[in-house]
Amino acid sequence: MLLYLTVNLKRLTACFMISVALSFAATPKEDKKNWPDAERGKALAERLCVNCHVVSQDSATDVPDGVPTFKGIANKSKQSAEHIRNILMQPHAPMPNMNLSRLEMDDIIAYLDELRLDKSGTPLLPNLKNRGAIPEYPEPS
Ligand code: HEC
Repeated sequence: MLLYLTVNLKRLTACFMISVALSFAATPKEDKKNWPDAERGKALAERLCVNCHVVSQDSATDVPDGVPTFKGIANKSKQSAEHIRNILMQPHAPMPNMNLSRLEMDDIIAYLDELRLDKSGTPLLPNLKNRGAIPEYPEPS
């Protein structure tokens, strides 16, 4: 009887530990919906921005002359997330105001981070660095 009880208890403990481990593993995934996501940003840009901007690295689409490419935007010196958000909220003609949400803007900025050539600089969204949403950049020495 006692043996049966201890075995059962062990099982219970194991069950409990597994469910605790699972709930820990599940949390970041849940939260991630609200983190800027480069993949979502790319998809959004391919829908809303391709008519004017070259969005992907290897794009061969025709766009109007003189419109900066996404790679150009990403690698402009002193580029900042704040500047990009301001442009998106108050664009100059002919760029339309697309009424993006803050998260949609940051999704696009996370994608721009992926197009940065100098990975040693501070990313546009530095806070994302430790969350695995964009590649981790080495700390500047
Ligand atoms: C109708 C054409 C058009 C569309 C659509 C468009 N843009 Fe633009 N965008 C432009 C033009 C033209 C400029 C340059 C304007 C200028 O220099 O004043 C520009 C400039 C920008 C800049 C400023 C670059 C800098 O560093 O100053 C950013 C950022 C930008 N666009 C992002 C986007 C994003 C993101 C989208 C999609 C969500 C988008 N644009 C959709 C035409 C467009």
